Amino acid sequence: MTIHSETLQHDPALSGRLIDMLGADLVLTGEATASYCRDWHGDVQSSAVAVLRPRSTAEVQACVRAAAALELEIVPQGGNTGLVLGALPDAPAKQVVLSLERMSRIRDLDVDNFSAVIEAGAVLEQVREAVAAKGLYFPLSLGAQGSCQIGGNVSTNAGGVNVLRYGMTRELVLGLEVVLPDGSVFDGLSRLRKDNRGIDLKQLFIGAEGTLGIVTAVSVKLLPAPDQVATALVALPRLEDVIALYRRARRDCCDLMSAFEFMPPLAMVLAREAMPDLPIPLEGHPAYALIEISGSGLVNIDDLMGRFLEAAFESGLALDGVVAQSHAQARNLWAIREGMNLGQAERGRHLRTDISVPLSRLADFVAEAEAAITRRMPGCICVSYGHVGDGNVHLNVLPDYSQGAGQVEPQILMAKKIVNEVLDRYDGSISAEHGIGRLKKSDFEQRLPPVHRALLTSVRRAFDPDGRLNPGCQFDLP
Ligand code: FAD
Ligand code: LAC
Ligand code: ZN
Repeated sequence: MTIHSETLQHDPALSGRLIDMLGADLVLTGEATASYCRDWHGDVQSSAVAVLRPRSTAEVQACVRAAAALELEIVPQGGNTGLVLGALPDAPAKQVVLSLERMSRIRDLDVDNFSAVIEAGAVLEQVREAVAAKGLYFPLSLGAQGSCQIGGNVSTNAGGVNVLRYGMTRELVLGLEVVLPDGSVFDGLSRLRKDNRGIDLKQLFIGAEGTLGIVTAVSVKLLPAPDQVATALVALPRLEDVIALYRRARRDCCDLMSAFEFMPPLAMVLAREAMPDLPIPLEGHPAYALIEISGSGLVNIDDLMGRFLEAAFESGLALDGVVAQSHAQARNLWAIREGMNLGQAERGRHLRTDISVPLSRLADFVAEAEAAITRRMPGCICVSYGHVGDGNVHLNVLPDYSQGAGQVEPQILMAKKIVNEVLDRYDGSISAEHGIGRLKKSDFEQRLPPVHRALLTSVRRAFDPDGRLNPGCQFDLP
């Protein structure tokens, strides 16, 4: 990782010129930039020449042109919740952060077309709420939705808890508006569901982590809002049983299952540490699944959940379970899942992974990787949880903090090496949903086949020949 952990003294002439070119209202400097240069966990503090905060696509174009005139690089930033340092400067003396936070309008909401056009800086939760007010539903849902932005979601191809039914962000995008590194605009805000006119260029920007262009607006698919939702927390004897229960749920609840998350017993401990008043209805079991079934119209979702769970208990797959009786209780069950992340953050720096393996091998992978950590790093604690249906596990490792602050980083590196050794044997991915950013750059590069790398390099050079847009992100250009 090449992020500078110290803030630099920046050349005031550079930020002064940016103010001259763009106006003071668009440019933050000095202390005001600090929060834009710190990651969500607070592990890394970087700095930047300035933070640019445009309010329109035309102002984004002006920012891009001003940065180019001063030979500055641009690091696009959304809600800054990405966990891989993609939105943080790594060469502070020659980089500006470009924040989309002031571009948050919903430009269009077409109820009959089941679509909306949203500016990139709109916060995901606000998008979901605005759409819900029209009786519609935007299914992307993740723990950071109170802060992350739709442009960030597109740029990371975010996943979240509803992927098993609705797909990743890519599957929800109809069109994009993107400011390119030369200041021109890729005007692709289509609202069409079917369009096979040649290569679908918008796909290149999805998951590009701000290396090809600055997403300024997104056209998304919407769905009818489900008016029935059943949420259950189920205790199980072992992780293998979570997979078996998922298999059964796929069959019994078919397309109506919208989430199926697994959590270890430590989830309850971590959630309580972060939220001491949170009601925790089940404890003391070896594994948990948090399941949501939803639908609208003539189906009876409560009945479906009841019959599914009854069969799960009868077959011995489930040991105990609770079904939320109200919206508030459902939120509490989800708060346990979200509290896990906060609890880990509060413990201190730790290894965070977002791995995927074929679902059929998920339980074996977790068992093998956890055993390898326990054997070689006995003081560390594994916290494995995640999106079962997607074969996506966050196999995190909390270091043995008693070894002292100086030993935390070496332990994180060692734990990562051990986990990735196992992962490589399973032909898995080091990034199922968070992206590469700067944190996983070297792990990505080590595993990048030469042809793959050559193609990626050509794409980046085609869009950004001068290497001005987030150049230190994902992989280094030759
Ligand atoms: P940022 O962090 O600001 O940026 C992420 C990357 O996108 C950077 O490379 C940045 O340069 C680029 N970028 C941002 N906006 C733009 C833009 N408009 N144009 C071009 N490039 C841009 N992720 C999941 O996939 N699934 C989860 O379940 C999930 N849960 C999370 C839970 C918590 C508590 C936290 C803190 C994070 C979680 N994340 C999850 C990670 C993160 O929320 C997502 O990656 C999210 O999509 C990032 O959005 P953001 O707006 O915060 O982007
Ligand atoms: C989650 C994030 C960490 O699933 O991706 O909680
Ligand atoms: Zn996740």
